[in-house]
Amino acid sequence: MQADLERILFDEATILRRLDEIAAQISNDYRDRELTVIAVLNGSLVFMSDLMRRIPLPLRLDCLSVASYHGRAETPDEVIFKQVALPDVVDRHILILDDILDSGHTLAAIREKLETAKPRSIRVCVLLQKKKERARSVDADYVGFEIEDEFVVGYGLDFMERYRNLPCIGVLRKELITQTN
Ligand code: IMP
Ligand code: MG
Repeated sequence: MQADLERILFDEATILRRLDEIAAQISNDYRDRELTVIAVLNGSLVFMSDLMRRIPLPLRLDCLSVASYHGRAETPDEVIFKQVALPDVVDRHILILDDILDSGHTLAAIREKLETAKPRSIRVCVLLQKKKERARSVDADYVGFEIEDEFVVGYGLDFMERYRNLPCIGVLRKELITQTN
């Protein structure tokens, strides 16, 4: 799998060191409030599991499953919620966790939808944020790493459902993206 990468951006130790920092920041910000983490599946699964174990506060976990990529390395403009019922967020302090902020469509749609369910507050935490103009403006309150506008895989991020189990994050070789599409 690693041979399919053009280059590695962040190895496992670097990712975990950064998670220590973000977790400390989150733990400090929410020290007096009960936190509800809402993880966006499947991309944030690995990130969520490493991050939440670094937050020594009482917290709740819920997951949301959305489809926004359909196995293609392009940016979609539709976000489909795969479950009918939303998590119960009324009056809660919500922290949405996602793998990557790319066009912003996914997080904007999720944020809008959760806002209708009347939480007390909403913040957004992403592992990666691409440096680019976004189709929809979404601000992440916590960002692991800023990256260039390249297609990356690993540590939960996939290309056509593969590479999620790579322990590092790297740029996928371009010929693999065009070949399989
Ligand atoms: P957005 O709606 O364009 O911000 O895209 C969000 C979703 O697209 C993410 O949650 C990822 O699942 C997927 N995505 C965007 N960029 C990448 C990438 O570079 N690698 C893998 N998945 C990506
Ligand atoms: Mg995703």
